[in-house]
Amino acid sequence: MVSELTELDANSNSIALGVKNLSKIFDSVAGKVVALDNINFTVKKGEFVSIVGPSGSGKSTLLNMIGALDRPTSGNVYINGIDIFSLNDSQIATMRNGLIGFIFQSFNLINRTTVLKNVKLPGTIAGMDGTETNMRAMKILEALGIADKATQKPVNLSGGQQQRVAIARSLVNNPTIVLADEPTGNLDTKTGDDVFDMLKTLSHKFKRTIIMVTHNPELAESTDRSILIKDGRIERDVTN
Ligand SMILES: Nc1ncnc2c1ncn2[C@@H]1O[C@H](COP(=O)(O)OP(=O)(O)OP(=O)(O)O)[C@@H](O)[C@H]1O
Ligand SMILES: [Mg+2]
Repeated sequence: MVSELTELDANSNSIALGVKNLSKIFDSVAGKVVALDNINFTVKKGEFVSIVGPSGSGKSTLLNMIGALDRPTSGNVYINGIDIFSLNDSQIATMRNGLIGFIFQSFNLINRTTVLKNVKLPGTIAGMDGTETNMRAMKILEALGIADKATQKPVNLSGGQQQRVAIARSLVNNPTIVLADEPTGNLDTKTGDDVFDMLKTLSHKFKRTIIMVTHNPELAESTDRSILIKDGRIERDVTN
């Protein structure tokens, strides 16, 4: 399936992600909410980690901090050894666009443009050469089995196909880490399993580091490792 993505291959066993003493407190009208309370863990390159836990336990907040979509109240996130919150906002944006791929439950595709342009977008933002981005995007779409949809608008695709477009988009910049927040949450079981298998292949065959939030216990058990979050703390961290 993803056999053509040879240039994504990598062999190093080094640490891709480090999370150190990470806390996030939200100030809301109802008072302070401690969403993350001193979280610590590291993830190896190529590891496929699931984050599980009850609703409101802090899973999305954690993913948003790792992806530098928001700043923590305290603590550090290291990506490829870089302390990302020591960077300024523009450096963070560059780092995020180059090293991190995002996949969301609701796909977050731009419906007024084509599948191909959606997939190319992170490359375009990064200033990648247009022809090269085009070739790379098409190659990934082919590997994910949806190259024939390249000129269509995402809205005309099935949920599973749209999520594949989102996966393709997350890979176009050859990211170190792919962050997926309930990527199968809006899909039926069969399609969700297909999308999950794709993520698994990406992790094992192409050494992408994947961190996936899921409410599905079976999928979580099929990842390399599951981290259970409760009330903003790591309650359990098990190798599957
Ligand atoms: N922007 C915000 N402002 C205030 N509180 C927030 C904000 N974002 C999240 N929270 C709170 O932080 C806590 C953790 O939220 P988070 O979205 O991380 O949970 P979650 O584990 O992803 O839940 P779910 O499984 O429902 O997606 C919750 O109590 C939530 O209400
Ligand atoms: Mg969430």
